[in-house]
Amino acid sequence: LSARIPKPERHLKVITSIKELQEYLFPYRKKGDKIGFIPTMGALHDGHLSLVVQAQEKCQVTVVSIFVNPTQFNSPQDLIKYPRNLEADTALLEKIGCDYLFAPSVEEVYPPNYSIPKMELGELDKVMEGEFRPGHFEGVVEVVYRLFDIVKPDFAFFGKKDFQQLTVINHMTKSLKLPVEIVGCFTSRDDTGLARSSRNMRLSESERNDALIIYKTLLYAKELAKESNPSDVKAKAIDFFQKGSLKLEYIEIVDPETLNPLTTSWSKGATACIASYCGEVRLIDNLELIPVLELENR
Ligand code: PAF
Repeated sequence: LSARIPKPERHLKVITSIKELQEYLFPYRKKGDKIGFIPTMGALHDGHLSLVVQAQEKCQVTVVSIFVNPTQFNSPQDLIKYPRNLEADTALLEKIGCDYLFAPSVEEVYPPNYSIPKMELGELDKVMEGEFRPGHFEGVVEVVYRLFDIVKPDFAFFGKKDFQQLTVINHMTKSLKLPVEIVGCFTSRDDTGLARSSRNMRLSESERNDALIIYKTLLYAKELAKESNPSDVKAKAIDFFQKGSLKLEYIEIVDPETLNPLTTSWSKGATACIASYCGEVRLIDNLELIPVLELENR
């Protein structure tokens, strides 16, 4: 993907100020062009670039933001260690023909006295990531709301690897009636099946190999789901996962909209989610076990 040839007329413009970004985007909006937006925290990989390509296919202008949002990190160490590589990211976006890179400072995104509307997340931010990373989704909602307000995109593209994040953002968009369409995009995996993540940069070669147990467990769960109920699948998946060397935080099988754990029966789009530590690096992944059509035909 990084080798994709940019359209010759496209040059990446790097912008750090909200005012300048809005001045650049105004003429497109006036013309009725669609603005596609990909919020990121940088350390870009092919997964991010595939979101850019999907935005380019749907929209006339594409904006990527790179902002390592301090409010969504529940561990100060994780924030410090989060990979940052603006120069390499800029080169990748230039190569792929992205139009705008918005890379604001913390002060630009969170000026004194800014506020975001109150919103109930109910159980959505209590389970799974919410349980192990308290406050994480409040930070995600805060920054995504802010970025939507700044960029005012027509479409925003998010990877399904962050499955719970996508559910929370869909919920926020619906409940605040935000004028943006959320596009959930398939998880990008390398040849071994490992889900692409900026955090993979911190894995040694042997850890990368150890981490394959995550996707293997998800595939195993998908196979089991053909014949067993969700509770049995979960129990067997945990046993299987524990044959590897990673430290498990959770495996859950949930309904994709409510995120309620499933026990005795399946629901459309039932998804298995895993979070675990590979050495010091926290990795998450998920797989839809029951595609919607399959359940209808059962
Ligand atoms: O998925 C991410 O990289 C971040 O959570 C997001 C959506 C860019 C918000 O900071």
